[in-house]
Amino acid sequence: MKDIKSYVNQHKDRFIAELIELLKIPSVSADSAYGNDILKTADAVKNALEKAGCDKVEICETPGNPIVYGEKIIDKKLPIILVYGHYDVQPADPIELWDSPPFEPVIKKTEIHPDGAIFARGACDDKGQMYMHVKALEYMVSTNQLPCNVKFMIEGEEEIGSVSLAWFVERNHQKLANDIILISDTGMISNSQPSITTGLRGLSYVEVEVTGPNRDLHSGLYGGAVANPINILAKMIASLHDENNRVTIPGFYDNVADLSKEERTEMAKAPFSLDDYKKALDIEEVYGENGYTTNERNSIRPTLDVNGIWGGYIGEGAKTVIASKAHAKISMRLVPNQDWQEITELFKKHFENIAPKSVKVKVIPHHGGQGYVTPIDTIGYKAASKAYQESFGVAPIPQRSGGSIPIVALFEKELKSKTILMGFGLDSDAIHSPNEHFGVFNYLKGIETIPLFYKYFVEMS
Ligand code: BES
Ligand code: MN
Ligand code: MN
Repeated sequence: MKDIKSYVNQHKDRFIAELIELLKIPSVSADSAYGNDILKTADAVKNALEKAGCDKVEICETPGNPIVYGEKIIDKKLPIILVYGHYDVQPADPIELWDSPPFEPVIKKTEIHPDGAIFARGACDDKGQMYMHVKALEYMVSTNQLPCNVKFMIEGEEEIGSVSLAWFVERNHQKLANDIILISDTGMISNSQPSITTGLRGLSYVEVEVTGPNRDLHSGLYGGAVANPINILAKMIASLHDENNRVTIPGFYDNVADLSKEERTEMAKAPFSLDDYKKALDIEEVYGENGYTTNERNSIRPTLDVNGIWGGYIGEGAKTVIASKAHAKISMRLVPNQDWQEITELFKKHFENIAPKSVKVKVIPHHGGQGYVTPIDTIGYKAASKAYQESFGVAPIPQRSGGSIPIVALFEKELKSKTILMGFGLDSDAIHSPNEHFGVFNYLKGIETIPLFYKYFVEMS
């Protein structure tokens, strides 16, 4: 693959232009108002896969958003790589915090991305990273260098829990049979120090509702005499962590797989500057579970965070009122051996337990999934490592991520295959935030690295 660099160089303007077209379609899965755009995006992905050289591409209907499936089978005796990605994106709000409209992509230089970055919702998560695989396929097919069989499965519900994908995977074992699953939907340490994601956290996402009196009340006439659900909810939430910032739910840590001293020492070798970290976030001090470093807190330790809290009067001016209800959305990031359904159950029991008699509480579980760790003594990991070494000129470091892609554990359970997480985003790319972007360097490097993975994986198989 001597010519991959020159192929990317020759076609890079078109690669960027095509991605920009895809980013213009607002495929927000959380909001049904974008249903039509979801279908339009699925169609655009289908066309792109056909153009890139897939022999068979189909839009697979599900109870929810469609899944785009494509394949190119060149020889049944050769390995099969299954590429997974998602074409849906997070909602763009708060829209007023974007410097340019989220679905009108622009390229701007930043300190970290001197070659420019594409700013748009989904640029990094995951349209940009998913599209690298489409362009890598184009290169391999058009230059007659595809070394094995390939299947693509691009879904439209990752950001809302992949419910229909689970349904689809359970029903299509044969169709999806593979030797390895390849995903670019994570990040790496920096553009000069690539890393391969070797772990993802699990997730349990719940919503809680606290009800006090049966209607909103005058806070003068009733204040002090009845439970204020917002006060109570705040108290209950505060009690979910102790003075060491550990989660207080009984049994929460019972199954947590602790890392050995050696593993922690190994982890601490990854380049990281606490000062830069604080500076980038404009915070004076970091925060978290006592006894662990920042990188441990955000990857190998489980956490509990309120993602949203509401209730009462939030309009202009002041209204004196005791609301009848208060609400919060809470996520728990889980680590290997914590079962998300068990944790959800523990949360529910505990939350109901700590509620005073003066209120009623409801716990509504949303979605969740298991965590995942990839071994590094596999052909898949070694092939990926060799590919990065060649394209970046630097050996990649294995790194566990704090994010979640719940479907990865399900792939292992249903399809019995391992996943390699070749992510090319950076933590600073603002995924799920205003001004999400993806470095042009990262996009092109990804396209360059993926065919090398195919090559080495097939050579080592
Ligand atoms: N691509 C992200 C997950 C991710 C990002 C993992 C960066 C590692 C590094 C994915 O789209 C995502 O946002 N997942 C959700 C979970 C999902 C069930 C909504 C998450 O992690 O919050
Ligand atoms: Mn993603
Ligand atoms: Mn995401």
